[in-house]
Amino acid sequence: MNRTKSHIAVIFGASGDLTQRMLIPALFNLHKQNLLEHPYAILGVSRTPLSDKQFRDKMQGFLPADDTTSDFLNHLHYQPLEPSNEQEYHELKEHIERIKKEKNMPGNMLFYLSTPPKLYAVIPKHLAAVGLNKEDDGFRRLVIEKPFGHNLTSARQLNRDLLKYFTEKQIYRIDHYLGKETVQNLLVLRFANSLWEPLWNHKYIDHIQITSAEKLGVEKRGGYYDQSGALRDMLQNHLLQLVGLVAMEPPTVIEADAIRNEMLKVFQSVRPLNREKLQENIVQGQYTSSLIQGKQVKGYREEDGVNPKSRTETFAAIKLHIDNWRWSGIPFYLRTGKKLPARVTEIVIHFRPTPHHLFDSAHGATNIPNQLIIRIQPDEGILLKMGLKQPGSGFTVKTVNLDFHYSDMAENYLPTAYERLLLDGINGDATLYARGDNVEKAWEIVQPILDEWDENPDFPLHGYPAGSWGPRAADELIADEESGWRYPCKNLSNDGEYCEL
Ligand SMILES: NC(=O)c1ccc[n+]([C@@H]2O[C@H](COP(=O)([O-])OP(=O)(O)OC[C@H]3O[C@@H](n4cnc5c(N)ncnc54)[C@H](OP(=O)(O)O)[C@@H]3O)[C@@H](O)[C@H]2O)c1
Repeated sequence: MNRTKSHIAVIFGASGDLTQRMLIPALFNLHKQNLLEHPYAILGVSRTPLSDKQFRDKMQGFLPADDTTSDFLNHLHYQPLEPSNEQEYHELKEHIERIKKEKNMPGNMLFYLSTPPKLYAVIPKHLAAVGLNKEDDGFRRLVIEKPFGHNLTSARQLNRDLLKYFTEKQIYRIDHYLGKETVQNLLVLRFANSLWEPLWNHKYIDHIQITSAEKLGVEKRGGYYDQSGALRDMLQNHLLQLVGLVAMEPPTVIEADAIRNEMLKVFQSVRPLNREKLQENIVQGQYTSSLIQGKQVKGYREEDGVNPKSRTETFAAIKLHIDNWRWSGIPFYLRTGKKLPARVTEIVIHFRPTPHHLFDSAHGATNIPNQLIIRIQPDEGILLKMGLKQPGSGFTVKTVNLDFHYSDMAENYLPTAYERLLLDGINGDATLYARGDNVEKAWEIVQPILDEWDENPDFPLHGYPAGSWGPRAADELIADEESGWRYPCKNLSNDGEYCEL
C-alpha cells in the first residue's frame, strides 16, 4: 500500500462509537505499518470536554498495548467543539494552525464526519466560513459516512449542500463494503483474467444472487433502525454498489472516475420498478419472536427503542433487471436481513447448464449448473462449483468445490476496510468511494418501493422467526429459478443457532 502525504486528520464525532471502534484502530494499524508520512496529526473534535491527555487515555482503551502504541497516541489531539456553532470554528482553525506550526507540516487536511447525519451539511458550511475548504496550502478533503440521505429528495439536497462548500473531487462518501478485499478483487477477477469475461453475460449466466445476512438483531440501535430499515440501511447502498461492480462494463483504466462512470451506467440501466407490480419484485419481512437453543428470542417489535406497532422491515429481497446488451433478460436477486442464521455476505453467479445433458449426476438429475461464489464476509474467498466424475464405473457426475480462501495467503496482511479507505482518502484515490451522482441514482432505484410502503399500509410485511432465512415469500420471489436461494450453511441446526459456513 502507498504511504500517505504528511497531513492532519480532523475527526468530527471523536467521542463516538465509530471513531473509537473503527477509525482510531485503523489509523493505528496504518501508523504501525509506517504508512502515515511523518509529521502527521489526528485532531479529534466533539462536544464532550476532553483534554489531549484525556482523549489519548480514552483511545488507548481501544488499542492493543505494544511498543508503537504510545508513539501513536502522541499524534492525537483534541478540541471540544459544538458543531453547529460557527464561532467555534475560528478556534478550530487556530488549533490546526498551532499543530501545523509546532510540527512544521503542510496544510493537507482530511475532515472526517463521524457525526449524526443532520450535521453533514452544517459542518462543511462552517468549515467553509473560516476558509478551511480552500486548498491554498495543501489538500482539503471531506469524508462522510452513510447514510447519504434518507430518500431521493434528501440525498439530492445533501449533495447540493455539500457542493456549495466543497467540490465533488474533495468529497469522499464512504461505503465500507467497497473497502473489503474481495469486493476490490471482483475487479481483478473479472478484468485480469481472460477466462471469465467471455462468459460474463446473458448468454452464459442464468441469474445472479447477492445475499447480505446478519445474525444480530438491532441490538442497542433500535431507535435508529426503526427510522431506517433494511432497504435504506443495506440494500440501497452496499448491495447496489455490489451490483454495480458485478455488472459494469470494463473501465478504460483503473481510476476513480472511469470505474464510477461504468457503475453509473449500470444504475441507469436498472429497469424502473413499476409500483403496480411491486409485489412481484420485492418482499419485506420483520423478525418475530422465536426459540433459539431453548431460549426465547425477542421479536423486532419487542426490541428497545422500536415502536411496538412498527412496520419497519428487517428483511428485504428484491428482483431487478438490468436492461442493457450484456444483461438482457437476466434477473439479479438481492436479499438482506437481520436475525438470520449467519453473518455472511456473498455474490453467487449461476451459470447456465450445458445445452445437452450427457451424464447422470449422483442424484440422478443430469443438470449440474456451475456456480461461482464470491464470499465477501466472513472468510473472504472464492468458490467455484463444478461437476466432475465420481470415481468408479460409469460416468456419474458429482458437484465438487474449487475453494480459495484469502486467509491462505498468510504472508499477506489483510487490511481492514477502514484502513484501506482511510489510506485511499488521504492519498486522494476516490475509486472505492461513492460519487454523488451514483448515490442519487441508487436512491432513484429504490424510491418507488419507499413510496409504496409509505402510502400503502396494506403492502404485505411478512413475519419470519428470528434465526430463520427470512419469510417464505422470499422463496416465491425466486421461484422461477430451479436452484432457489443458495443457503450458505453447510450445516444448520434445526433452531437456526448453528450455521457452519
Ligand atoms: N458505528 C458504526 O458502526 C457506523 C457504521 C456505519 C455508519 N455509521 C455512521 O457514522 C456516523 C457516526 O456513528 P457513531 O456510531 O459513531 O455515532 P455516535 O456514537 O452517536 O457518535 C456520534 C458523535 O457525534 C457527536 N454528536 C452526537 N449528537 C450530536 C449532536 N446533536 N450535535 C453534535 N454532535 C453530536 C457525539 O459526540 P459529542 O456528544 O461529544 O458531541 C459523538 O461523538 C453516523 O452518521 C452513523 O450513521 C456508523
